[in-house]
Amino acid sequence: MIGVFDSGYGGLTILRELRHKLPEADFLYLGDNARAPYGTRSFDLVYKFTLQAVRRLFDEGCHLVILACNTASAKALRSIQQRDLPHIDPSRRVLGVIRPTVEALGAASSTGHIGLVGTPGTIASQSYNLEIEKLYPGFRTFTHACPMWVPLVEYGEAAGDGADYFVRKDIGALLSQSADIDTLILGCTHYPLLLPKIEKYVPEGVKILNQGRIVADSLVDYLRRHPEMDAKITRGSAVRYLTTERADKFSTLASLFLGQPVDAEQIVL
Ligand code: DGL
Repeated sequence: MIGVFDSGYGGLTILRELRHKLPEADFLYLGDNARAPYGTRSFDLVYKFTLQAVRRLFDEGCHLVILACNTASAKALRSIQQRDLPHIDPSRRVLGVIRPTVEALGAASSTGHIGLVGTPGTIASQSYNLEIEKLYPGFRTFTHACPMWVPLVEYGEAAGDGADYFVRKDIGALLSQSADIDTLILGCTHYPLLLPKIEKYVPEGVKILNQGRIVADSLVDYLRRHPEMDAKITRGSAVRYLTTERADKFSTLASLFLGQPVDAEQIVL
């Protein structure tokens, strides 16, 4: 199985695209909904929670885990890759979502002015800014943290009027920083669940990147370059869902987001 981890429902936007690109692969999704949002938590806590989740996915039999969460990718990925994996099992892999997203910017932007919205943790970590500077030194990155967006999704309010208020306010605050922003990164995997609202307030000339598709393409490429990992992936088109919240609550909201029945199991990390 390929493990897919997020603090809550956001990783489903990545899982959807992964299943589209790798329809035969088996997936195990883990949402730490009971402790979401991660975006306002300290570096140490995000690292600790993410490592617990990765260990659980390894114990369940995953050889490859995708951190389908920008906050966890920003705050925990490097430590897990460099400090923990060599002790746990050097043959296993944990991959994040930030690097592939930044790689896609070159083809997307003409002005080199990039807009980024994300959780307070992702924005404060400067992970995107640093990667963008490394890969595209001429580009400029404009950022804005949106602390209310993840709670709106986690509480099932993504389609409500409250969501309109915050999305309009936050998109306005981001775009007012430069008239030349032509590419928008939704730097949080929860945000595509607010896409109908976001599209209402983003002008037509601004391209909104589909992070799920970018990450899925990048994983297909990774598996092509790593046949030893590809060979470990079981292929029966099965998906299991684990959540640290009530299973019935997760199943109801996840079914709504994915447009197909989800039957989740509750676990303790
Ligand atoms: N989906 C997570 C991300 O991509 C949300 C973080 C949170 O729980 O605040 O950043």
